[in-house]
Parts: sequence; structure tokens; C-alpha cells
Amino acid sequence: TILVLDFGGQYNQLIARRVRECNVYCEVYPYQIGIDKIKELNPAGIIFTGGPNSVYLEDSPHCDPAILELGIPVLGICYGIQAMAHALGGKVTTPDSREYGKTQTYYDTTCPLFEGLPESGISWMSHTDYVSGLPEGFEAVAHTDCTPVAAMQNKAKKLYGVQFHPEVLHTENGIAMLRNFLTKVCGLTGDWTMGDYAIAEVEQIRQKVGDGKVLLALSGGVDSSVCAALLAKAIGSQLTCIFVDHGCMRKNEGDEVEEAFRQWKVNFVRVNAEDRFLGKLVGVTEPERKRKIIGEEFIRVFEEEAKKVGKVDFLAQGTIYPDVIESGLGDAAVIKSHHNVGGLPDYVDFKEIIEPLRLLFKDEVRQLGRELGLADVLVNRQPFPGPGLAIRCIGEVVKEKLDILRDADWIFRDEIAKAGLDQSINQYFAVITDMRSVGVMGDARTYDYTLALRAVTTTDFMTADWARIPYEVLEAASVRIVNEVRGINRIVYDITSKPPATIEWE
Ligand code: XMP
Repeated sequence: TILVLDFGGQYNQLIARRVRECNVYCEVYPYQIGIDKIKELNPAGIIFTGGPNSVYLEDSPHCDPAILELGIPVLGICYGIQAMAHALGGKVTTPDSREYGKTQTYYDTTCPLFEGLPESGISWMSHTDYVSGLPEGFEAVAHTDCTPVAAMQNKAKKLYGVQFHPEVLHTENGIAMLRNFLTKVCGLTGDWTMGDYAIAEVEQIRQKVGDGKVLLALSGGVDSSVCAALLAKAIGSQLTCIFVDHGCMRKNEGDEVEEAFRQWKVNFVRVNAEDRFLGKLVGVTEPERKRKIIGEEFIRVFEEEAKKVGKVDFLAQGTIYPDVIESGLGDAAVIKSHHNVGGLPDYVDFKEIIEPLRLLFKDEVRQLGRELGLADVLVNRQPFPGPGLAIRCIGEVVKEKLDILRDADWIFRDEIAKAGLDQSINQYFAVITDMRSVGVMGDARTYDYTLALRAVTTTDFMTADWARIPYEVLEAASVRIVNEVRGINRIVYDITSKPPATIEWE
């Protein structure tokens, strides 16, 4: 195990993720956990994370010097190197200017951290203070034009520090440096896998939950599904999943979700609330009102079902690490994940929230899902907005249009999959417009809806490019949809990127 001691910096969970990428297990603890707990955990190495601006600020977190006497290898990153230097009697100085961003850095490759790597390269800096006087027994092993001690070592005591952020991808070979620390300094082999993670998490959940009851709002999205699968494996029938089908799901989706969870002993509550939701949406055309109505109705349905379950001990949420980052680190995360499901009820009776995916990135969540044996349709699912097809049905949301959209969307997805494009396009779907146009079928005039196909490539969904789908694939989808789905006689392909358009049409 590697222990990541959190001094409050912005990249702390990223460090944990990088350590896992090196196939080493790690746990993140607040920096104050105390020497006894550290001895008990007996880690193979410790990493100090970044933190606030200066060791000299009044509330700045300090490193207990005793940690550095345990004989356990330590790597201090950014604030971590300063905390280490400060604790050992070195000098930390506030210079006139900050060093921020990509910085040319020169390394001493006899230092185990930089062994086998180039002697210079770009590193990612984000600091004001720096170590200006080395503690006794240390030597500088990297520098930049502004920072004389961009890295330091005390080889004998296995203490290392870097002023830059090796965990950030802008740092060339940063992950290799972390790996060097884990293998060459801590002596780890790096054979830990997501399977091991699943086993450890299952054990942790069991310990935490005991014989308590857990409630989860399952949307069928990747995060809540993997969260449910993990809990299902850990505590089985102590878990109740409430799956609200608002009638704006894609074709067969509700059944797929239900089917996927049949293998576990969880209490799976499926609420078919189509009529209720569509009833609320009568006459509504404005996108934000649709969202609001669906979000609020969702809460109401969930609350009613939760009341039937009665008092629970824990409310589980599929918050993942990007949610945590987006909402600012710390407690704010809870708020964001509430938003994910449209806000969560105030008066569902529970003691505590558990978020077992909090440390994982999306691709890790999928990997975990696979390890747990969750069905591929859920593990590989593309993002799907909470309000579902309601915001892909331009104008009023009515069942007739939703049914047309479901069939057309299914054919489009089928053709994308057949063409082998489903893993390279990040989101793809159909939109039914509220425009009708004239067509001719057989010898007859038609006057039917225009359908739009949308497919985008993106990494972060903040910006996106329209996917250059081969004409043949578009043609196949177009022909099939018009032939197989009644109510559509014209199909267009959306060739706007985001910005200026958004991914969804509403
Ligand atoms: P836009 O349309 O803003 O979409 O470019 C970016 C990503 O967010 C998804 N999206 C939503 N997800 N509730 C959600 O849970 C919503 O109301 C919502 N609107 C958009 C969209 O599918 C895309 O992945």
C-alpha cells in the first residue's frame, strides 16, 4: 500500500489515480492521521500532496517530523516538498514571482526518481514558495531557471521531494517518475489490478455498512449502475435500488437495466411512471422547464418509494471523481451529485451518504463494472441526460413522438455499432424535431416529421466535434429509419460542433 497524505491541494486525488495506474494500491488520508495510524497501516511508501500557498501561513498544515523518521520512503510533491523541508529544518522562501505552468526542468538522472529518463524536459509548476535551503543530508537533484531545488533527495533516508507536479500530464515523464518512486524507492512490483480494488472496496463497504440498510437511486447510467453493482456484491439484499422509469428512456432501456441486476439479490424497485411524467409535460415546450419538471417529479416519485422502504442507514450515490473536481473538492461534491439525479429529497430518512466511486475516473468506473460482472450494455453505455428523450423531442413531449424517436434512435445506434464506430464516437443519438415536411412514398404524398441524427467526438463534453461518419453508414441508417419507422420522411445530419451548438438540441 501507498499512503497519500492529503495536505489540501487541487491534484490530490489525481495522485492517487496515477499510483493506481502504476498498478499499486493506495489510500488517501488527511495529513493529520497521526503517527500511530501510519504505523498500523504500515505502508510501503508515503506521498505528501500539494497544499496551500505557504508553510508560513497561520493555518498551514504541517508535517509531523516523526513520519520522516519511520524509515518509510516519502515523496513530497509541491507543497509536500516544502512541508518536508520545513519539518527537517530546511529553508522555504517566498520569492517575488510565482512559477506557474510548463517549465523547462533539468534533472540529475542518478536520482532514482529520474533514472532512465531524459536529463531535461517540461514539468508542470504551480507554486509561489520554494525550498531555498536544503535540510541536512539532502541534495538538489533538479532545477529550473527560477527554482534552484525543483527536486531534492536524501537517498540514505529514502526521502524525496519534487516542486513540480509529476501527476499532471503536462509533466513529461511524470508518471514514469512516480513509477520510479514506487518501484525503485519503495520496492513495489506494481501488480495490483482493478479486480483487487473491487475486492478491497467490497470489504470496506461491508465493514462500514454492517447490517445496515442502503438506498440508491439507480438511473441506469454507468456511474449509478456500477455503484449499485459494487453495493450489490458487498451487501446484497441490504441494498434497495429505486429505478424510476420516467417514460423518456431509450428503447428497451428499462428492461435492460432490470435484467442486468437480476443476478444479484438486491431489492430492485422499478417504478413505471411514464403517465405521471408525461402528464406533467403536457403543453410544455421550453427546454429548461422540461428539465425542471422532470427533475422535480423525479424527486417526488423517489420520495414516495423511499418512504415505502422506510428508514435506511445510508444513501448511496454514484459520485465519481470528476464530479468531485467540478464541484470543488470536499463536501461540495454531494451537491453536484444531487444535481445528477435532479436534486435529492430532503426527507428521505438516512444517517449518512456513501459514495464508493468517489476516487475513480470514468474509465476506471467502467473497468470496475467489468470486474464486477455488470452487463456490457450498462458498462459501455454512452452518456444519457437525466431528462432523457424529453430533451431530444423538440416541442411538446408526447408519447407518439417518443415512440417514433425510440425506434429511430435504436436503428441509428444499431447501424453505428454494426459499422464498429460505437467505441470511437462518444455520443450519438437521434432527435425528433417539431417540423413536418412533404415527402413521397410509393405514389402517395406524406407529411411527416424530420429527424436529426447527431454524433460527436469529445473528451470532456465541454467542447465537441461532429463525427465524420462515413456516408455509407448515414445512408444505411437513413434508409432503414424511413422504411421501418412510421412518421418520419426526412433525415438530416447535424454538422455543427460545440461551440457554437451544444451536443443536445435542447
Ligand atoms: P450539451 O448539450 O450541454 O451536453 O452540450 C453536454 C453533455 O451533458 C449532457 N446533458 C445532460 N445531462 N441532464 C444530464 O444529466 C441534463 O439536463 C443534460 N443536458 C445535457 C449531454 O447529453 C452531453 O453528454
